[in-house]
Amino acid sequence: MAIVLVLVLVVVGSVLFHLLSPWWWTPIASNWSYIDDTIIITFWITGAVFSAVVLFMAYCVLRFRHRDGNRAAYEPENRKLESWLTIVTAVGVAAMLVPGLFVWSRFVTVPADATEVEVVGQQWQWNFRLPGKDGKLGRADTRIVSVENPLGLVPDDPAGQDDIVVEAADLHLPVDKPVRILLRSIDVLHDFYVPEFRAKMDMIPGSVTYFWFTPTRTGTFEILCAELCGQGHAFMRGVVMVDTQEDYLAWLGEQQTFAQLSAPAQTSSVEGKKD
Ligand code: CUA
Repeated sequence: MAIVLVLVLVVVGSVLFHLLSPWWWTPIASNWSYIDDTIIITFWITGAVFSAVVLFMAYCVLRFRHRDGNRAAYEPENRKLESWLTIVTAVGVAAMLVPGLFVWSRFVTVPADATEVEVVGQQWQWNFRLPGKDGKLGRADTRIVSVENPLGLVPDDPAGQDDIVVEAADLHLPVDKPVRILLRSIDVLHDFYVPEFRAKMDMIPGSVTYFWFTPTRTGTFEILCAELCGQGHAFMRGVVMVDTQEDYLAWLGEQQTFAQLSAPAQTSSVEGKKD
């Protein structure tokens, strides 16, 4: 009987914990409320099934507990029970999976007007690159990454000259403008995750992954690395600031292009030759 009580308390406790818990998602700051909806549907379905299964166990323990003189009857087949359990399970699984397919379809369909921003992960910091006036990111190659060229931009690619390089500083984005985040890693797996944006994606050395979102409110948001990437993983933090269009343009005006950043290095090497 004590076990029956424990099982019922587990269910009651779990439900109360979720109703009274102060922990919940941070307020959303992107268009991905679909992701929240999908998680909430899954949460309700799995929660209801968890409660039903545990309460059923409690019922069985009570109803079929050992009593002297009672014997079990062997009746392994129950077609009716199997049929409705199969149908209910299938409906439940479909209800959890189908919304995800719709969300995924939106997730991989980048709006045509999305601008591109590159995020480059390395142990253990975030760097960023924005296409310059030409709207195109130049080519990059991990083999030519150096202290002077942290993102490994190909120096003779004309498309890369006006690229804006933001090294280990805050990334700014304009509010209400869809953005396609291109992700690159120059060492190990990382994962660019801003909890308020909901969408996130792994960064795989050797390939460029992407995701898109539209920031829906201004503010300062913290970037976390969501892929264990070594000793400094927990400290691999960064900041995304979502600005009004005006503030964004003001910030953009202060940034330096790849050509500007590589200019001093070239001058010093010429001077070096003179000596
Ligand atoms: Cu980068 Cu964890």
